[in-house]
Amino acid sequence: MFTILTGAQFGDEGKGKVVDLLAEKYDIIVRFQGGDNAGHTVKVGDKTYKLHLTPSGVLFGKRLLIGPGVVLNPRVLWEEIDTLRHSGLEVDIGIDPKTTIIMPYHIELDSLREKARSDKIGTTKRGIGYAYIDKIARDEVQMGDLTDPARLQAKLEEIAPAKEKAIADMGGDPTVVRFQPYLDEYLEIGARLKDSLTDVSLEINLALDDDKMVLAEGAQGAFLDVIHGTQKFVTSSFTTAGSACANLGVGPVRVDNVVGVLKAYLTRVGEGPMPTELKNQMGEHLREKGHEFGTTTGRPRRCGWFDAVLARKSVYLNGYTELALTKLDVLSGMDPLKVCVSYDLDGELLGYPPESTEEFSRCIPVYEDVPGWSEDITAAQEYDELPKNAREYVEWLEGLLQVDISAVSVGPGREQTIYRE
Ligand code: IMP
Repeated sequence: MFTILTGAQFGDEGKGKVVDLLAEKYDIIVRFQGGDNAGHTVKVGDKTYKLHLTPSGVLFGKRLLIGPGVVLNPRVLWEEIDTLRHSGLEVDIGIDPKTTIIMPYHIELDSLREKARSDKIGTTKRGIGYAYIDKIARDEVQMGDLTDPARLQAKLEEIAPAKEKAIADMGGDPTVVRFQPYLDEYLEIGARLKDSLTDVSLEINLALDDDKMVLAEGAQGAFLDVIHGTQKFVTSSFTTAGSACANLGVGPVRVDNVVGVLKAYLTRVGEGPMPTELKNQMGEHLREKGHEFGTTTGRPRRCGWFDAVLARKSVYLNGYTELALTKLDVLSGMDPLKVCVSYDLDGELLGYPPESTEEFSRCIPVYEDVPGWSEDITAAQEYDELPKNAREYVEWLEGLLQVDISAVSVGPGREQTIYRE
């Protein structure tokens, strides 16, 4: 069985927890896009793990794969593997040799470009966009190159002059491009990971031939997609479900399920339009109660009401077969709740977001009030234990989106998850 799981909003929907819950049933968990701009917090008992690259299934000792559509900072991956192994966890990881490597000059270029922009994107400054530029321009360093010093050297000879010029032109320090200590470190990590190289497409296809269970774990969310998101305020990869097939080299007919993860309200980190953003006490309350601070950058997340107009688009972009609704507990005590059901754009009511980011940024949310509940729901184990209004909120969203909400999360712990029939 092949399942794809993606974020249905602006990232940070709680995918890490949902993947962690699903992982038990799967044989292979694979990342297909993005890099260490992502961050998953997974809590088990009193231990919290913050992962940026390692797929969340690691806590179950599953086979983990990193596909060639990922941009990989080897330093970050190696640190994570090391920490997890030191905590006593087995890390069985396979990395595609074609995976693009994030070089220190990508990070430098990302920072310099962001600093120079008058209209900032608010990137995570992890070099993501610049690594993808090199992939498309065919100037990338790949994971396989780190296992062969001569090949890496030859590639750098070819690439370095243009990078040095670009960095110098932007006012940065060009010596970062051929800085020997980091090249040595990358080669050392390459040597350590050499036995982990694998053809990810082949491995997944053979596993599916064998009736094994494969879960493709998306990073970021639908509206950070470089095509379908709110350009230019997006990440540089393809974040929707279809991208898993293209990036992993698995045919679309092999997909069985597409799971969307949605937060019960909305958050966004970085710049870009967000019609339901609450720039008031209520937004502050959601941020504090929901611990809405970025896993990767620590930046406060912008918070707002659930946006059903965006969620509708996400259902189309991804073709979800089921949804997991996270952080419902954070809404306890807020009454009434509001859900954005349409936008007002220059006096016209829209039930679907406009394509242009400029128009989207002018949309005014039209809300419906929904009765809230005051009870603490963090200990609820069964759906029937939820207050009536909480159940009605879930069912109302389900009706609006026309996709089953099969799981509801009421806290960060594994046990704080309610499965619905
Ligand atoms: P980049 O991916 O670092 O280039 O950043 C581009 C935009 O995507 C910025 O607004 C980031 O805040 C946002 N972004 C990137 N990764 C994540 C994520 O994992 N969660 C939420 N936002 C993200």
